[in-house]
Amino acid sequence: MRAAGGGSVGGGADVIGGDIEAYLQRHKAKSLLRFITCGSVDDGKSSLIGRLLYESKMIFDDQFAALRDDSKKVGTRGGEIDFALLVDGLTAEREQGITIDVAYRFFTTEKRKFIVADTPGHEQYTRNMVTGASTADLAVILIDARKGVLTQTRRHSYLAALLGIRRIVVAVNKMDLVDYSRDIFNKIERDYRAFAHQIHLEDITCIPVSAVVGDNVTSRSVHTPWYRGPGLLEHLETVDVPDPAEGAAFRMPVQWVNRPNPEFRGFAGLIASGVVRPGDALRVLPSGRTSSVARVLTGEGEARIGVAGQSVTLTLADEIDVSRGDVLSAADDPPAVANQFEATIIWMHDEPLLQGRAYLLKLGTKTVTATVAPIKYRVNVNTMEHLAAKKLDLNDIGVCELELSSAIAFESYRDSRVLGGFILIDRLTNNTVGAGLLHFALRRSQNVHWQALDVNKRARALLSHQKPCILWFTGLSGAGKSTIANLVEKQLHADGRQTYLLDGDNVRHGLNKDLGFTDQNRVENIRRVAEVARLMVDAGLIVMVSFISPFRSERRMARGLVEAGEFIEVFVDTPLAQAEARDAKGLYKKARRGELKNFTGIDSPYEAPENPEIRLDTTQLTPEAAASQVIAHLRKAGMIDAGFDPGI
Ligand code: ADX
Repeated sequence: MRAAGGGSVGGGADVIGGDIEAYLQRHKAKSLLRFITCGSVDDGKSSLIGRLLYESKMIFDDQFAALRDDSKKVGTRGGEIDFALLVDGLTAEREQGITIDVAYRFFTTEKRKFIVADTPGHEQYTRNMVTGASTADLAVILIDARKGVLTQTRRHSYLAALLGIRRIVVAVNKMDLVDYSRDIFNKIERDYRAFAHQIHLEDITCIPVSAVVGDNVTSRSVHTPWYRGPGLLEHLETVDVPDPAEGAAFRMPVQWVNRPNPEFRGFAGLIASGVVRPGDALRVLPSGRTSSVARVLTGEGEARIGVAGQSVTLTLADEIDVSRGDVLSAADDPPAVANQFEATIIWMHDEPLLQGRAYLLKLGTKTVTATVAPIKYRVNVNTMEHLAAKKLDLNDIGVCELELSSAIAFESYRDSRVLGGFILIDRLTNNTVGAGLLHFALRRSQNVHWQALDVNKRARALLSHQKPCILWFTGLSGAGKSTIANLVEKQLHADGRQTYLLDGDNVRHGLNKDLGFTDQNRVENIRRVAEVARLMVDAGLIVMVSFISPFRSERRMARGLVEAGEFIEVFVDTPLAQAEARDAKGLYKKARRGELKNFTGIDSPYEAPENPEIRLDTTQLTPEAAASQVIAHLRKAGMIDAGFDPGI
C-alpha cells in the first residue's frame, strides 16, 4: 500500500504544503471510497490506476525516477512513461506481462480518500477478485473499446453484484484506438446495460477513457466532445457511498477471549456493524445468553463508544460463557441462529466441490464443518441460465444447500457481509477452496428433534459383551478387502460376537443402486454407508465396511461420525500391479480396454491412508494371517475381551 504523504512529483504541486496539522485534519474529515478495478488481461487496468495515482500526485520523486528508468528499460511505450509499470509491482507480473495478485493502493485528493483493490483479469484468479470485491463499495469495470463486452466482463460484473457492489463504473478504455468513436462507445454502453439489468445492477456510469493518453481520467477530454458526463476521478470523488454499517444493530464476532488474570475477562473483536456503549444490553449467540457491557476498551484506553470498523475489547457485567467464534449482538435485535442454509458458492480450486463432501466453513470468527447437500444449480455467467450440477469446477458459481455440524449466528449476505459471507477450507490441506454467501436458513429440520432413547449404545453393548466399532477396510478393487473381512466376521461370529459386514458390491445392489463411479457418486456412496455403519455401531454391532473408499476426505468424515476409538481403518495394501494380475472379476482387463470408465487405479484415483490403525501387506500375508492380525488388534484394543466392560 502506498501511504499518503509528502514529496512532489516531477515539478508538480506539493501535496502537503506548509501546515501539516491542517492537512491531517482535512484528511481525517474526508470520506473514504473503497473500490475495485476489474478487467481482462490487457484492458489497461494498471495504466488506469497508475495514471490516477500519478495525477492525484501520490507518487514520490524517487518512485517517479524509477518509473522513468523502467519505462525506458522495458520500452513498452517507446521510451514514454508506462504507468502500468508503476502498478505492476510484482516481478512475476512484469515477466509474464500479466497481473497476478490483489494489490491495495491508497490515494487521496482534495475531496476524498480512496483505497483501490487492483485485481487480476485472468480467469483462474477469481479468488483475488472475490477478496478485493468483498470490501468494495464500487467497481470500475474496464472494457477494451476494440473488444466490447466479453465473457470476462460479464463474469466480473456478476461477481461484483453477488458480492454486494451496487455501483458500477464502466470505463470504456483505449478510445484513442477507435478514433474516439461515439458509435462504438454507445454500442458498448447499450450491451453492458442490457446485461447488467439481468443481474439487477442498475447504478451504472459509462465513461469513455484512454488511460494511456489520459482522456477523461482526471480531467475531461477534448477528444470526446460528444460525452457530457464526468471524468473518472470526478465521478469517484462525488459518487454517493452510504455506509452500510451505519444505523445497523450492533454485532461483533469474538476474535479471542482475553484473560490475562482471574480478575479480567475481555472479549476482543472487530465491530461488524452498529455501535456499543457501556451499559448496552448484549446477547451472546448462538447460546442466547444475555448480559450488559461494563467497559469498552480500545487501543487508546477506555472509551465511551465503539463503532463499526473499530477493534475493541468489551468486558461484561456478568460472568457468562463466551468463546471465540461467538457473536455479541444488541440484546433486542440479534441475528438468527441456524445450521442449514441455502447459499451461493464460488468455487476457487482445481479439484471440484463434490456434493456430499464435508469442508470447513469459516464465517466471521467461527469455524464449523459443512456438507454440501445438494447442489441446486450452477450458473452460466454468460446467459444467467441455471444448469443442473453434481459438482462445481474451478471458477463455477452455484447455489447449494449446506448442512453445518453446529448452529451458527448468521445474517443473509445482503444484510451483512461479515455474518453472511464465508470461506470453505479443505479439511486435509487447509487450503481455502471456495467462498460463499448465505441466502437464508432452511426450515427442513427445524421441527425434527433428536429423540432421547432409554436403551442406548452402552446398554446394548453390555448385553453382547463387546465394544461396538467400525472396521473400515479400504484398498483397491481386488486387493482382498472382502475376502479378509469375510474371514474376520466368520471368526468373530464363531466367538459369539454380533457383527455385520457391509460390502461395496452388495450395498450397491440395494441402498446405493442409483450410484455409479464418478467422484461425486463415490462420495455419496461412502456418505451413505458411513451413516449406516454409524447406526449399526449404535445398535451395538462390530461393523465391517469393505468399500474401496478411495478418498481420504470421506474416510475421515466416516471416522468423525463415531466416537474416538470406534473407527479402525484397515488398509488392505495390495499394489496395483498385483491386484491387476489377480483380476478376479476381469474388471481391470475391461478398464484397460477402455470398456470400463473411472476405474480405480486406472483412470480414477486411490488415496492411500496415511495413518491407518492396521496395515495389511497382502504381498506378505495370506488372507487367514491378515484376518488374525485384525482380530489381534481388536483384542489388544479391548473390543472383545472376556468379562469385558464396554466403558461407553
Ligand atoms: S467405492 O469407490 O465407491 O468405494 P465400491 O467399493 O462401492 O467403490 O465398489 C467397488 C466395486 O465395484 C469393485 O470391487 C468392483 O467390483 C465394482 N466396480 C465396477 N466399476 C468400477 C469402477 N469403475 N471402479 C471401481 N470399482 C468398480
